[in-house]
Amino acid sequence: MPIVAPSLLSANFINLAADCKMLNDSVADWYHLDVMDGRFVPNITFGPMVIEFIRKATTKVCDVHLMIEEPGLYTEQFKKAGADILTVHIEACTHLHRNIQQIKSLGMKAGVALNPHTPVSSLKDILADIDLVCLMSVNPGFGGQTFIPQTLQRIKELRSMIDAAQLPTLIEIDGGVTLQNATTILDAGAHVLVAGNTVFKSANPTQTIQQLKNL
Ligand code: DX5
Ligand code: ZN
Repeated sequence: MPIVAPSLLSANFINLAADCKMLNDSVADWYHLDVMDGRFVPNITFGPMVIEFIRKATTKVCDVHLMIEEPGLYTEQFKKAGADILTVHIEACTHLHRNIQQIKSLGMKAGVALNPHTPVSSLKDILADIDLVCLMSVNPGFGGQTFIPQTLQRIKELRSMIDAAQLPTLIEIDGGVTLQNATTILDAGAHVLVAGNTVFKSANPTQTIQQLKNL
């Protein structure tokens, strides 16, 4: 059974409370929260202040995906806002090891995200220190994009590295996950499915979450 993490990026922000209630009443495991700064990615979303409100609306795990430059400057703010998992991009961190230690020292789980072009092997010397790898299966910045098929090979490669070292690291797939491709993604070795449009643009989001969970 996968961990299902609907992405609030595709939620209705004028009525966020209703979408939070829907998620709370569903079998969704995590809230996936996409923070964008308009520099690391060509889009701007929300920051710690909105996450603090969302934190109060749920007891589910808040999985915060930082698509920002210099994420180390904001680690404490996201902890205070209520993040349980804090994921930084390898491409945005000159001192990735330090950033990860900082996240963990504040009591959060640490994740590292990779853009589609970044080799999975670049995680070799840091894999044992992290709780989650977020493999981007689209170029980050927007919801509703098409899954990049080469991701499947990347999942397999990463899963082999994790299994060979007998690590508990989770593989999260972010971007273009649908009910049609999710089984292949899980078969390749992923543990966590992020889904934005697939959940929130479906006729029955609660049921769609259940369908993803049943895969
Ligand atoms: C993209 C974000 C994703 C996004 C996924 O940059 O990191 O989390 O919300 O949206 P879908 O599932 O619609 O591709
Ligand atoms: Zn994301």
